[in-house]
Amino acid sequence: MKVFINKRIPEIGINRLLEAGLQIVFPENESLTYEEWLEYCQNADIILNVGGDFKYDKVFFDACPNIKAIALYSVGFDHVDIKEATRRNIPIGNTPDVLSRATSDVAFLLMQSVARRASYNFQKVIDDNWGAFDPLHALGQELYGKTLGVFGLGRIGFQMAEKCKKAFDMEIIYHNRHQNEEAERELGGTYVSFDELVRNSDVLSVHANFTPEHKDLFNESVFEKMKPNSIFINTARGGFHQEEDLYNALTEGKIWGAGLDVTNPEPMSADNPLLKLSNVCVLPHIGSATIEARNGMARLAAGNIIAFSKGEKMPNCANP
Ligand code: DGY
Repeated sequence: MKVFINKRIPEIGINRLLEAGLQIVFPENESLTYEEWLEYCQNADIILNVGGDFKYDKVFFDACPNIKAIALYSVGFDHVDIKEATRRNIPIGNTPDVLSRATSDVAFLLMQSVARRASYNFQKVIDDNWGAFDPLHALGQELYGKTLGVFGLGRIGFQMAEKCKKAFDMEIIYHNRHQNEEAERELGGTYVSFDELVRNSDVLSVHANFTPEHKDLFNESVFEKMKPNSIFINTARGGFHQEEDLYNALTEGKIWGAGLDVTNPEPMSADNPLLKLSNVCVLPHIGSATIEARNGMARLAAGNIIAFSKGEKMPNCANP
């Protein structure tokens, strides 16, 4: 079977596929136009998809009738019409667990960066503007004993909560599709309504799977209810927050700051006004960017393809 991989992934995944006797096709140039990408897909049996540049929707599936399976090099599958894939019997593999630690590390890093105004202070050093010691300037806030609100207490949300509990003895509240009693016991966390989450969090960190109903969930009316000292963290998907409303909340003092590893669109343009704000820290979607996580993702994606090629169920499958 022919596997099309649109971008290089760690060797561990490639070697596994080759050892399993699969034929691999890489593009000559990794920055493909939609048409070029489609042509590669039309000539493959299986796709190992890296990144969220192109959508797997009805138009795609109609244009690529030979595609038998797709293995995503990601845990998120918001760029795939899972219903349509399932209707056509196309399994969609993903890579859960292996990136939970790395992604929650980035949420934790952003929380501290914003609380201690790291990007603002870093910029001062770069600008040769260190300045004299000033008891009243560039003051951050401490996180000890504060309340962490987790939106989406899945694997990544749980690990973020665990870190905050251990490092800063933070109180954990969360909102989720379902109450998670096991996680509550382990974290001493409390399930709250969305409204309570928004009103009571000192740090509100987004970790849910993104679906179309979540588009712009964190908007003006939500930021309005948040505490003025609160920090908004998003390492899930940029579609969760309404960017202009976030900008206004940050400049009008409705919230203290924001840490984003995801934006909408990606990449964020360098002249985006959010980047001018001293209470914002933006990273270029590096949640899973560790050697360990990326190797794990390569292993799982290859494992999904190999299982499928043997007529078995993908071990990590996003279809219901
Ligand atoms: C994921 O796995 O969904 C990440 O966002 C991609 O790095």
